Amino acid sequence: MKIIICKTYDEMSSAAAKLVAEQLNEKPTSVLGLATGSTPEGMYAELIEMYRNNAVSFAQATSVNLDEYYPIEPTNDQSYRYFMNTKLFDHVNIDKEKTFVPNGMANDPDTEGIRYEALIERLGGVDLQILGIGRNGHIGFNEPADRLIPGTHVTALTAGTIEANSRFFASEADVPRMALTMGIGSILKAKKIVLMAAGAEKKEAVMRMLEGFIDTNCPASLLNLHPDVTLICTKDAINA
Ligand code: PGA
Repeated sequence: MKIIICKTYDEMSSAAAKLVAEQLNEKPTSVLGLATGSTPEGMYAELIEMYRNNAVSFAQATSVNLDEYYPIEPTNDQSYRYFMNTKLFDHVNIDKEKTFVPNGMANDPDTEGIRYEALIERLGGVDLQILGIGRNGHIGFNEPADRLIPGTHVTALTAGTIEANSRFFASEADVPRMALTMGIGSILKAKKIVLMAAGAEKKEAVMRMLEGFIDTNCPASLLNLHPDVTLICTKDAINA
């Protein structure tokens, strides 16, 4: 795993945005695997700035998001569809028809998982996948467990994740209990992966991943199976 350690959150955001821009400049038709949460917000802001300065174009790009709460309306301001629209898509030249997020209103979440996997396959797979990491080592909503599901699936959020995400909601009771998420297998199929981690509260999970073992109770550790992963983190998120 390649590691880039940054002094500040802003530096981390710029470094990650640079990798996304390089990807799009090299292959304008790239399929980007995108993530939500506090971690990539700065990267999206930087990408918007780069777009305004003609340093990157999303005109031919496609995006697939990692996950979405379930059930949730796309217009709900806590949905990941809403996040992506407001933090990136509304501000750059991406064709919204070519931006995909798991359908939080699907009647049958199991069928939605199958549909989403088929969609990613039809797009030719993800060229560059952006990931955050949970304090418990989760990636997407693949929570620590003895067994992990490889493909996109519906899952229950752990108590810790509900508590961590409650900062975005009026109260913890408002946090959806379920989510649709790409599986570890879907993530590992991406050609390149960039994992971002900021803040001391991520250090334990980052260090566990960097031990190099495969441990389903630290889902990020499965990234050790992938040949092209770059960790971009702030210095307080790692024992440097
Ligand atoms: P955060 O979430 O970016 O909001 O810290 C990351 C994650 O839980 O994967």
